[in-house]
Amino acid sequence: MNKLILLIKKKRLKIIGLLSGTSADGVDACLAEIMEIKGRMRIRQLAFKTYPFSEDVGNLIFKLSDPTYQNLDELLRLDVVLGKFFARKAVKLIKDFGYEKKEIDLIGSHGQTIRHLPRPFLCLGQKVKAPCHIGDPSVIAGTTGITTVGDVRRADMASGGEGAPLSPLAHFMLFNSPGTPQVVLNLGGIANLTILPGTEIIDDVWGFDTGPANMIVDSLTKKYFGKKFDRDGRIAFSGKVNLRLLTFLKKDGYFKRKPPKSTGRERFGKGFLKKIAEYKKMHRLKSEDLVTTVSELSVQTIGESFFGLVKTKKQIQRLILAGGGVHNQYFTLRLKELFSPIEVVTSESFGYNPDSIEALTFALFAYLTIKGRTGNIKKVTGAKKEAVLGKICLG
Ligand SMILES: Nc1ncnc2c1ncn2[C@@H]1O[C@H](COP(=O)(O)OP(=O)(O)O)[C@@H](O)[C@H]1O
Ligand SMILES: [Mg+2]
Repeated sequence: MNKLILLIKKKRLKIIGLLSGTSADGVDACLAEIMEIKGRMRIRQLAFKTYPFSEDVGNLIFKLSDPTYQNLDELLRLDVVLGKFFARKAVKLIKDFGYEKKEIDLIGSHGQTIRHLPRPFLCLGQKVKAPCHIGDPSVIAGTTGITTVGDVRRADMASGGEGAPLSPLAHFMLFNSPGTPQVVLNLGGIANLTILPGTEIIDDVWGFDTGPANMIVDSLTKKYFGKKFDRDGRIAFSGKVNLRLLTFLKKDGYFKRKPPKSTGRERFGKGFLKKIAEYKKMHRLKSEDLVTTVSELSVQTIGESFFGLVKTKKQIQRLILAGGGVHNQYFTLRLKELFSPIEVVTSESFGYNPDSIEALTFALFAYLTIKGRTGNIKKVTGAKKEAVLGKICLG
């Protein structure tokens, strides 16, 4: 029978989710078993591992993600190289955890973001929004022989949305607890918040990107300390907050904008870093004080967006943290202080490794797409209609 029909009919699917976020640190790969019982999703995580990018891959991603650098041929080649890389890591995950390729039904791959242009921009007289995520799903399907769903953000953008954040629906499926209003905070390169009011209605869920989480911290530790990131937040703990710089950085218009909103390296990448470097030079700031100040920028803008925009805040009982930033103890300490008395936990308390949540999200989207189900929440992305997300490449 046609592979696609088999997948549509199959009740219980083993799906690999692949995610390489804006931090460009590597690909998070998870294997999940997903099924529905009486209309409820059952998601069991069977395996998870992060496969880091080599330095030259990371550097080329950063180079191509910089809007001032344009090289279309290089981009097209990296699209294929990353597709092959993702395919190899999917197969490695299968082997590393003792599974066999024939047991795997599907791969859901987010791809590497090179551009996220969610605001309408005039092109030949038409206002358009445009994304670019590379790591061609056709290459993944062709190399692994496993049907792959990729390029999931475009359908939401084609429906008028920003294409992001998409994770609120996954957060609803993973963490929602009727009667207990909660907030989920993903600390990747960018921070995104999901508000789960504790009802069973998907349309009650909302969320948005608050701004940077690790993105600026990573850039500064790389530039001034030669380190990929601020391990455990040690540098941030060693410095002091420079209030003038913090106030200056907080003036960025993104923080004041009302949701729906999403952002990326276009806003908080090289250009933002340049402003910080100039300020450092002019005011002779210590490098560690810069790291403390931008770490504070991340946590304070998360706190302020929450307390400024979330109306149900008084009832929120729990803040659930996920993403690589949970390992930054400066972040977690300050978030606990800022959100007090709200209980702060990591996704681990729900049985999900905090580093795996986003990869799990894209496994989930692959499931929804194969079943012909929509994956965006209109209120979150600003889309005019719900859309089945992604492109299906048969393996
Ligand atoms: N031990 C650690 N201490 C501090 N920060 C960490 C640690 N481990 C990971 N991180 C941070 O997490 C980031 C990766 O998080 P991730 O959720 O993969 O983000 P993205 O989705 O943007 O790739 C790293 O770039 C780094 O900033
Ligand atoms: Mg990552």
